[in-house]
Amino acid sequence: MKKVLIYDFGSQYTQLIARRVRELKVYSEIVPPDFPPERFTEEVGAVVLSGGPGSVYDPHPLLPPPQLYRSGRPILGICYGLQAMVHQLGGRVEKAEKREYGLAYLEVRGPSPLFEGLPRRFRVWMSHADKATALPPGFRVLASTENSEYAAVAHLDRRLYAVQFHPEVRHTEHGTEILGNFLFRAAGLKPEWDLGNFLEEKIREIRERVGDGKVVLALSGGVDSSVVAALLARAVPDRFFPIFVDTGLLRKGDREKVVRAFGHLPTLRVVDAADRFFEALQGVTDPEEKRRRIGHLFIEVFREEARKLGPEVRFLAQGTLYPDVIESRSVVGPSAVIKSHHNVGGLPQELPFELIEPLKELFKDEVRALGRLLGLPEEIVSAHPFPGPGLAVRIIGEVTPERVAVLREADAIAMEELKRSGYYDRVWQAFCVLLPVRTVGVMGDRRTYEHVCAFRAVVSEDGMTADWARLPHDLLARIASRIVNEVPGINRVVYDITSKPPGTIEWE
Ligand code: XMP
Repeated sequence: MKKVLIYDFGSQYTQLIARRVRELKVYSEIVPPDFPPERFTEEVGAVVLSGGPGSVYDPHPLLPPPQLYRSGRPILGICYGLQAMVHQLGGRVEKAEKREYGLAYLEVRGPSPLFEGLPRRFRVWMSHADKATALPPGFRVLASTENSEYAAVAHLDRRLYAVQFHPEVRHTEHGTEILGNFLFRAAGLKPEWDLGNFLEEKIREIRERVGDGKVVLALSGGVDSSVVAALLARAVPDRFFPIFVDTGLLRKGDREKVVRAFGHLPTLRVVDAADRFFEALQGVTDPEEKRRRIGHLFIEVFREEARKLGPEVRFLAQGTLYPDVIESRSVVGPSAVIKSHHNVGGLPQELPFELIEPLKELFKDEVRALGRLLGLPEEIVSAHPFPGPGLAVRIIGEVTPERVAVLREADAIAMEELKRSGYYDRVWQAFCVLLPVRTVGVMGDRRTYEHVCAFRAVVSEDGMTADWARLPHDLLARIASRIVNEVPGINRVVYDITSKPPGTIEWE
């Protein structure tokens, strides 16, 4: 199967390019900007140069190895990728002080595989400062905008293409068709990448690797670990031991959801550890200390359970995704992002197991699709993210069983109303936070003096940045009034309207 390599020059859209290519059913991988073409295998059918924040005039510009252009592979440069290509092949790029940012009209100037079947004029998304002002030998203009004469250029014989705009973003009309034209018409690839095949291949691979060993997995009930569980249950049903630790810090219905989806597996182990977690959290109010204690105890409990399964437990399965791989590998790091707390509630590297990470080539939306293919219910595959330390980081101050019970009820009401209104699937994440603050209220004829609950709902692409969700006021009103009426211990609800940055999504 052929694949596309995407050279990453640090654009916030690099992963989006990779996803779009896969949506067109061509497998894609992201590589660092200096990836040597000598390492290309037969499978590399085309190359994309991503955009990036840099300039070819930087003191040490990020540029692909020049021999890339002699590798015989069709290449598509996007934005900075265009500038790098033009610069390296002998054209001219001029430094600009002013950015061109926003929509522009593209005029197609002549026939080429890239714009075949598309209108002569349509809107494209521009975001650049420098621009090409002279083409390398053999190149010609395919399309222009008012500000950029060289908005799309190519050396047709060598199959080198470049566009100044961003075909991967939705604001560009016909963007996916342009990428498809590059892959199928210019590069001659075929749409062969398919999750069904991926699944079959993974199952074969896992069977071979596991042999007569045993595999354990910390099943949380979240999307990633659930998809891994469903996959392993299909590949090696009697050698696979999912361990679900009930920390007592889960939401209402979380445990039942896991049992509904995986209770039929005779190897499922449900560990009741709530008492131990509450004991470990006694008197702790510092957020980092909470995370640390929960993390340690989780590993301890998991280890004890795995040990009971005997010495043949050689493998640990984990739901690592492709974005985690890209981020941890990124040495040049233009698009590197720091998420230090992310594995709290996960497992450390030094456990004595070999890792099985069957999702590490996939993006989140592909993982969800794979989950559906494996027959997992929608309540699992389309669930919001939930942090490893659970409700503990949504209770400000000390975590006690009583406070968890209060928060759990409030949160369940909020989720029920969100789902009923259809807004659950339109936000990235939503949840309640219990505050250690009491305020005065009145209920019936009685004065109340109870706790405040904060409700938070955010929209986001990937959790790295987020904006508070503009939910309808009547939905917010319903959530607030039901929580105050139905949950003893809460008499006031506030809505969090902080975006990230400067806030984080979770409160702790
Ligand atoms: P923050 O609060 O950093 O969260 O804006 C970003 C995303 O990560 C989730 N999150 C976690 N996930 N373990 C996890 O697995 C954690 O310790 C953790 N802390 C935050 C958070 O829910 C949001 O989706």
